[in-house]
Amino acid sequence: MNGRTALITGGSRGIGAAIAERFRQAGAQVLTPSRNDLDLFSDASIDGWLARLGSPVDILVNCAGINRLAGVADLSDDDLRDTLQVNLLAPLRLARGLCAGMKSLGYGRILNISSVWSVVYRESRLPYAISKSGINGMTRALAVELAPHGILVNGLAPGYIATDMTIRNNSPEEIDSIRTKIPTGRLGTPEEIAEIAAFLCSAANGLITGQTILADGGYTLT
Ligand SMILES: NC(=O)c1ccc[n+]([C@@H]2O[C@H](COP(=O)([O-])OP(=O)(O)OC[C@H]3O[C@@H](n4cnc5c(N)ncnc54)[C@H](OP(=O)(O)O)[C@@H]3O)[C@@H](O)[C@H]2O)c1
Repeated sequence: MNGRTALITGGSRGIGAAIAERFRQAGAQVLTPSRNDLDLFSDASIDGWLARLGSPVDILVNCAGINRLAGVADLSDDDLRDTLQVNLLAPLRLARGLCAGMKSLGYGRILNISSVWSVVYRESRLPYAISKSGINGMTRALAVELAPHGILVNGLAPGYIATDMTIRNNSPEEIDSIRTKIPTGRLGTPEEIAEIAAFLCSAANGLITGQTILADGGYTLT
């Protein structure tokens, strides 16, 4: 990734922070704007950030995400709108804003962080599942549209990863029970996700596009 510039949303902690660190190790110049500079709840903030960007970025990783627990009976309009905004519409807005620059370079990599809940369902993950299923569709669509310009677009769908999000949404007892349902017997680490992200976003990957890769220790197989 020497000479490449990468924008990583959600780079303050968890999976995004690990991806930022791994990309820096690979030689990229990494941009991880704080929420003060790039607030994905706000289209004006996204447009302002894009307008201030001086030169094209080569790599976009849409990693920021929220997971507010709700099922169909207790789904609020705000939770649905906010989740779709941060997890789906903001990533699309960023991809749309940045792909012209990538086209001018004749090179680009876009990685959308999805989730296993885009392909299987767990109770109370309704807005999240809708948003992550949507981003899988966006990945396929952008991959087809942008491949002629040297831009590859993929998704990466983690299973249970040891981050704030997992700890916030699961009690210690639930996490113990989850471990027994993962064939590898453990939660994944942000660093393991970052390693896969690094390959998908590097020039070493020239052929994989439009795929959402499950990285879940076999969780969805059982
Ligand atoms: N952890 C898992 O098991 C797991 C599994 C599957 C998929 N994922 C996905 O992986 C991604 C990262 O998850 P994580 O576990 O690392 O989450 P996390 O620890 O909760 O971190 C979430 C990140 O998103 C940022 N963010 C949230 N709302 C934002 C907003 N409005 N504007 C800008 N940034 C915002 C946060 O910034 P602040 O620090 O400013 O809050 C933070 O950097 C998410 O897309 C998540 O859905 C996670």
